[in-house]
Amino acid sequence: MFFRFYNQPGLYLSPAEQRALRKELLEVGKASLDPMPNYQCLSSRPNALDDKLIVVAYIDPENSGDKQQAHSQRAVAFTSAIYLDVPNVDHVVLHTGLTIAIPSLQRTGILAQLFTQLFANVVPLHPRGMWVTTLAAVLSSLVQSEKTLYKTHPCPPERRQKEKQSLKPLREHLHIARAIDERHRAKLLISPAAVFDDEAFVFRESLDWDAAASFRKDVDDVKFHHRDNGANQYFRGLMRAGKGDEVLLIGFFDGARMWEVLEQRLQKSKL
Ligand SMILES: CC(C)(COP(=O)(O)OP(=O)(O)OC[C@H]1O[C@@H](n2cnc3c(N)ncnc32)[C@H](O)[C@@H]1OP(=O)(O)O)[C@@H](O)C(=O)NCCC(=O)NCCS
Repeated sequence: MFFRFYNQPGLYLSPAEQRALRKELLEVGKASLDPMPNYQCLSSRPNALDDKLIVVAYIDPENSGDKQQAHSQRAVAFTSAIYLDVPNVDHVVLHTGLTIAIPSLQRTGILAQLFTQLFANVVPLHPRGMWVTTLAAVLSSLVQSEKTLYKTHPCPPERRQKEKQSLKPLREHLHIARAIDERHRAKLLISPAAVFDDEAFVFRESLDWDAAASFRKDVDDVKFHHRDNGANQYFRGLMRAGKGDEVLLIGFFDGARMWEVLEQRLQKSKL
């Protein structure tokens, strides 16, 4: 598998190259989502790729022994992020918007690989670090983000105690949440009727509308859970079953944190 990073590709790829990239993204989406959302990097809007930061994972059938498909690299997963404009916050805010892997690649550790590639490309652009947001009902995505970032809110009690973090959100968490609530709903596919619960940091019923139909999941289905059961239970407890709630997780990331995360992964792979 190999990866390509596209930094706001709508601004520099030719129209034909943009069409080809969009076709690859739609192929990945088609395998996992029904109906296909007209959203984010999958959107048919002509300028849909202008503000996206996209990592695409490809397999090369030539190297996988599939002679029939030789010379036709195939996109198998992607993650697509956007910057959010947030007043009164000093650092940039990156929203990790849409991540999809084809079914045969799910549960193989693909999230960690995609996000390592994303941050390896984005961190050098912002040496002072950045705030990162995730909005999800998928527990594996929430726990994965919580473990990658620091200063996260909401945060499972074990980690909060370990890092001596307050139960209360920081000023930045509140500013970012407010900006999303008031100005960025469409960018995050949050239903116009959803209500932000600022105690739990949950958009109540954000997925409860037609545009988000393909993202609605059974939050109790273990195929969307992380290996860390304590953290699963914590985030699960913030959402109600069958209502389309999503947790807004906000944390910080920088070069120092990148080294810590890579170190932890290395230790894990040694065990
Ligand atoms: C979002 C999506 C890519 C997540 O994929 P995933 O399969 O959970 O991703 P991973 O394989 O990286 O697994 C994530 C975590 O789940 C757990 N996990 C994975 N495989 C596991 C297994 N076999 N047993 C137990 N836990 C497992 C692990 O904790 C893993 O993290 P870790 O390896 O760091 O411990 C996938 O669900 C998807 O494509 N969904 C369809 C599109 C969608 O709805 N996207 C969400 C909206 S953005």
